[in-house]
Amino acid sequence: MLRQDINELLTQTGPGTPMGELFRQYWIPALLAEELPEDDCPPVRVKLLSERMVAFRDSAGRLGLVDEFCAHRGASLWFGRNEGSGLRCPYHGWKYDVTGQAVEVPSEADNPSFCANVKLTAYPLVRIGDVLWTHMGDPAKRPPLPEFEFATVPAEQTYTSKRWQQCNWLQAFEGGIDSSHVTFLHSGGLRSDPLFKGAKGNEYNMRDTKPFFEVAESDGGLFVGARRNAEEGSYYWRITPYVMPAFTMVPPRGDHPVHGHFWVPIDDENCWTYSFDYHPVRALTAAERQAMIDGHGVHSRNIPGTYRPAANMDNDYLIDRAAQKRGETYSGVAGIAMQDASLQESMGPIVDRTKERLVPADSGIIKARQKLRRAAEALRDHGTTPPGVDPEHHRVRSAAIVLPVAESFLDSCRDAVRVVPGTPQTTV
Ligand code: FES
Ligand SMILES: [Fe+2]
Repeated sequence: MLRQDINELLTQTGPGTPMGELFRQYWIPALLAEELPEDDCPPVRVKLLSERMVAFRDSAGRLGLVDEFCAHRGASLWFGRNEGSGLRCPYHGWKYDVTGQAVEVPSEADNPSFCANVKLTAYPLVRIGDVLWTHMGDPAKRPPLPEFEFATVPAEQTYTSKRWQQCNWLQAFEGGIDSSHVTFLHSGGLRSDPLFKGAKGNEYNMRDTKPFFEVAESDGGLFVGARRNAEEGSYYWRITPYVMPAFTMVPPRGDHPVHGHFWVPIDDENCWTYSFDYHPVRALTAAERQAMIDGHGVHSRNIPGTYRPAANMDNDYLIDRAAQKRGETYSGVAGIAMQDASLQESMGPIVDRTKERLVPADSGIIKARQKLRRAAEALRDHGTTPPGVDPEHHRVRSAAIVLPVAESFLDSCRDAVRVVPGTPQTTV
């Protein structure tokens, strides 16, 4: 369990909060590149860390993320006209460039010094892979750009989707480092999901329902090792890297693409779950890519034109009790992503952690909370740069491996959990 004040510290990410300031040290996903498909396309509302903004792509392809509300009298610039290298408020015609600088104030007599003094809060927006990233902190302390492997491999090797999740970021994220639920909640998916099934590792996963957890520190966060019995004298290890503040990777299965998530706070009661799949050494097949688009694996089938899952809170996630009875799904909810989301959202917008009963299988979660709390407090009290800001810390991989019982997972996997471009993942 967690004290209420610590639960608040970890779950509140608005401006001026300790966790909010922590998140503002990092580049984080702001939207998918597909949301701004062409120059002068419609602007997109973006809410992150409780700040409301609009993203737009100007006539020259420059990307901007600016305060949603016009500096004049506060109209939403989502209604803006994206034209002539700027976003123009349709109320009285004030126009802003991608840096938030007002470039025209046509409602007033010519007064260049007035215009020069009008500027919206704005953050950078940079495309890396399928994601547009932003840094919402002090520009003087802006770190180098992120180097996560899913975003830096060639385009044909990677796919990213996103979905709106109706709960605080922390309880969504905690699902990403919780290997013990896989055997239960996702047992149907291990047998049938086109992006999961067929791996030898799945058999170990299903056979041993009581994984033993060992958690090791990494430069950027943690390696969470989950150990299950394999053949006589050996263990099956699944190693989940966590890079602070909110990046996790699922250990691989066979030659399937490797997947993972980025959990991004929208506000304290909602988050974006970015879900990616990539293969370090080969293009995704057409069938794999189609399966991802169709919402298999870690991806969701969303309501067309939105990032809200078709199965959601308002329709009880289309729970199918008959499929549950037949043994096709463990919870009755279809699809790995929505199995996770349904239960995480079921806890309420911000779960009351003063009431939880943590067990040894939750040791990754306990360690991650400690790291987050320590980093947020060190930043607040001493200005200490937190782990995971340095792009070197991003170059980690998940791994799945069978090891003799005497071997330590981390000693045996030092190379397996490091990104070596052009080498395959370590997988069972
Ligand atoms: S409110 Fe935007 S120009 Fe007046
Ligand atoms: Fe899960």
